[in-house]
Amino acid sequence: MTIAYPSTPPVAAAPSGAPRPRLTFLGTGYLGATYAICFAELGYEVLGFDVDEAKIAKLAGGDVPIHEPGLDELLRKNLSAGRLRFTTSWEEVAEFGDVHFICVGTPQRPDGMAADLSHVESAVTNLAPLLKRKALIAGKSTVPVGTAEWIEQLVRRHTPAELGVEVAWSPEFLQEGVAVEDVLRPNRIIFGVKSEWATGMLYAAHKGVFDLALTEDREVPVVVTDFATAELVKVAANAFLATKISFINAMAEVCEAAGADVTQLARSIGYDARIGNKFLRAGVGFGGGCLPKDIRAFQARAQELGVGEALRFLHEVDLINQRRRQKIVQLSAELLGRGYGPAGPDLAGTRITVLGATFKPNSDDVRDSPALSVVRKLSRSGAEVTVYDPEGMDNARNDVDDVIYAKTLTDAVTGADLVCVLTEWEEFRNTDPNALNELVAARRVIDGRNCLDQNVWVAAGWEYRGMGKPVVA
Ligand code: UDX
Repeated sequence: MTIAYPSTPPVAAAPSGAPRPRLTFLGTGYLGATYAICFAELGYEVLGFDVDEAKIAKLAGGDVPIHEPGLDELLRKNLSAGRLRFTTSWEEVAEFGDVHFICVGTPQRPDGMAADLSHVESAVTNLAPLLKRKALIAGKSTVPVGTAEWIEQLVRRHTPAELGVEVAWSPEFLQEGVAVEDVLRPNRIIFGVKSEWATGMLYAAHKGVFDLALTEDREVPVVVTDFATAELVKVAANAFLATKISFINAMAEVCEAAGADVTQLARSIGYDARIGNKFLRAGVGFGGGCLPKDIRAFQARAQELGVGEALRFLHEVDLINQRRRQKIVQLSAELLGRGYGPAGPDLAGTRITVLGATFKPNSDDVRDSPALSVVRKLSRSGAEVTVYDPEGMDNARNDVDDVIYAKTLTDAVTGADLVCVLTEWEEFRNTDPNALNELVAARRVIDGRNCLDQNVWVAAGWEYRGMGKPVVA
């Protein structure tokens, strides 16, 4: 069932007796922190929980532990309005909440491709035994299909039947860098439910989103569905996005062999509304805390369900993505005049500057970042690598410690034999190559995100290589 809201939703009364359901967000990583803060902004009474005391102390003190535009301001505003609190106490969570949103991480397991559900399990088994009245436990984390059913069993095991605690699944689709906007103004909301009460409770818990839409003359489509479909919506969406990126990156490989230009190709096919021009930017590929691990977990789950063949193409999507990282190393060797042997190129004695460490701009997240993956490969090949990123330096240092971290872009490029732009930060896109001409040892640039103006760089005397673009002298 799909309904466009605002209309008159079947709002259920909060078991706590509060005028609006009181919301808890379990796990205050990217997802939970953003949701907790934004839902307080929508007028809800909110409690954010995490087992990490340092993170909770930071949030409670008005400091967002991640870089997300607009979030700091909203955190401080809602802390002082008294609508938003943070805790490390499960008792407090159980006592406070009408709807408990599970927002914990589901990382890739170290022993394979599947998702690690231990944080989900511990959230439920810690909370459920402490509940004293009816409540809804609603998942937002990205999970393998079947998880909500399993959680329902855990809840049954850990709460007395007469409380009637229920489970629902409502996946989130926030993109880092625009997360506040994605939470306050989502393009759709999915309710995976089994009862009318759970539907009504989720409506009540999202009424702030519908009310905001009403004041802005927008509609938010709501899909009310079963657990399995709700869980699959999220992984299917991410699988599609990853496939779209790898598709254009596969085209980039063909363009490289054929002397064609993938940026013009992408623009041309993107005019067809059935294809669309979004997520068709060829480059060093996708990374981050979601797409790479989600397509792997999806394959692992499909295998368990006996339909591994159906998702075999996602393996290819992953391989195309990994090859783009290697392509930067190949191009580096080529530009630096180094041979490429079976053990990779020998880049000893070369100085390479990598601009960008985060997996995308406007974020400080370096999880599975293509830029850092290339940094590791170049460093392993013997190059002296210097890295600069406007926001990701601290996280990058924790991940890769045997490279040089520069304080500014100009420091970073000084003396470089080659500059690689691997995250399309505005600072890099707007850099005037003429200003770098006298700083570098040689004017060579690899545009790993096709984000620089090739003509301007070539006119400034740089040897330029893009991704899937012909070489222009
Ligand atoms: C993604 C989904 O977009 C979001 O809906 C989901 O909730 C979580 O996962 P996010 O990880 O924040 O969000 O990043 P996204 O903007 O999707 O970008 C993922 C990666 O793909 C980045 O490394 C980005 O640089 C790369 N990308 C994106 C491309 O290489 N080309 C493109 O055209 C678009």
